[in-house]
Amino acid sequence: MNRKEIVVISKYLRTAPTSKVKNFLSLLIEKKLMMTRKSNKKDKYKVKTVTEAKTVAKNYLKSLDLEKVTEFGLPEVDDRYHIWRVPVLRKDKGTTEKLGEIVVDAETTLVSEKKTTSKEVLESRLLGRQTGKKKRRTKVEPPKISSLRNTVGFGDSEELLSETPNESVDLVFTSPPYFNARPEYAEYLSYEEYLLKMRKIIHQAHRVLNEGRFFVLNVSPVLIRRASRSEASKRIAVPFDFHQLFIQEGFEFIDDIHWVKPEGAGWATGRGRRFSADRNPLQYKPVPVTEYVLVYRKKTDKLIDWHIRKHPDQKIIEESKVEDGYEVTNLWKIHPAYSKKHPAIFPLELAEKVIKYYSFKNDVVLDPFAGIGTTGKAAVKNDRRFVLFEREEDYMKEIKKNIKSWFKAEMPKINWLNMANPFNEETAAK
Ligand SMILES: C[S@@+](CC[C@H](N)C(=O)[O-])C[C@H]1O[C@@H](n2cnc3c(N)ncnc32)[C@H](O)[C@@H]1O
Repeated sequence: MNRKEIVVISKYLRTAPTSKVKNFLSLLIEKKLMMTRKSNKKDKYKVKTVTEAKTVAKNYLKSLDLEKVTEFGLPEVDDRYHIWRVPVLRKDKGTTEKLGEIVVDAETTLVSEKKTTSKEVLESRLLGRQTGKKKRRTKVEPPKISSLRNTVGFGDSEELLSETPNESVDLVFTSPPYFNARPEYAEYLSYEEYLLKMRKIIHQAHRVLNEGRFFVLNVSPVLIRRASRSEASKRIAVPFDFHQLFIQEGFEFIDDIHWVKPEGAGWATGRGRRFSADRNPLQYKPVPVTEYVLVYRKKTDKLIDWHIRKHPDQKIIEESKVEDGYEVTNLWKIHPAYSKKHPAIFPLELAEKVIKYYSFKNDVVLDPFAGIGTTGKAAVKNDRRFVLFEREEDYMKEIKKNIKSWFKAEMPKINWLNMANPFNEETAAK
């Protein structure tokens, strides 16, 4: 279907003898346009072949520990919804049984958990059990207590997350890398590519988060400076694009908190200087002194009350109560923090508030973009465990240098991923 054909049909349309022929030709054009749009979309697919669809499905089954007991049928692409359907089979003594299917988003490579047969159904079909109708009323399970130790991982957080067990984390608090805002950050080829990477990390975070727990994100619009005097600078509304990603990945929106900095903090951006001199309408640009702290919850049918009443250790619930002097409104006035070692840290005070309000003592707090480890320090200070992932060596060095000082008492054992235990190295060197 190409443009030429559409042009030719349009020509006939103009001179068509009857309205019946006209209607027929219009329908034909519409159909051809639709097909052209579809094939344009197909060019953008990141999962293009049967083998690629099977690889994504295989990794997904691996994360469920089911890859050894299942096989795949022939994946089919569904270009109405831009997805691949990968049948999951069990082959046993010459018979083949379909257990379900894995649905892969062709544009993003992500598995759509909503459309994919659930782990429970796959497992019970593997065991030949009945599911669905005959379900007996079961007792309400208590919330899970994670067995993860304090962990520091060096490398790409998408990869490190893929090795993190399901439902092993109780809170995610992080601030993402800025999209090309500063040269020292990762450069992405396009904003779409940046968002896709973020979506993959949010997807993994959803999997590792415990039922009904929170993902809190510190994020703000990004200023792309003008390349020359004749061009305008651009502001990208990053928080609103993140909101879409959270909703697509199975989170519900809970709150937008505004972190307010003192006025002086925003002047460094240069915004508002021109207006303050000329005072021309339309040139008005406010000096940005706020950042968002967006709060999302992993979708669940459980009420918050369930986390509190069914928690297996009621002493922890009592000890985690938030003291007087907490933030009553969604305007949090906090001074920004600066570090010689990192250009964009958030203040310890911000991390502490988030941790106190959105987790219980002994919970596991994950920061997939850990920087110099502010979230880890705040977690320890408030008797929580931490999981920190960071891919820049210099920032990792800072974490290693300071981690002992985070603990009042002796430092407990830490899981060091993708690197040697720095403290063993220390002893070895002595
Ligand atoms: C905004 S900073 C976070 C700073 C941190 N909140 C602190 O207070 O130190 C984002 C961090 O994410 C890291 N980063 C970016 N992409 C990453 C990835 N794919 N995996 C792991 N870390 C990444 C950057 O190196 C940077 O240190």
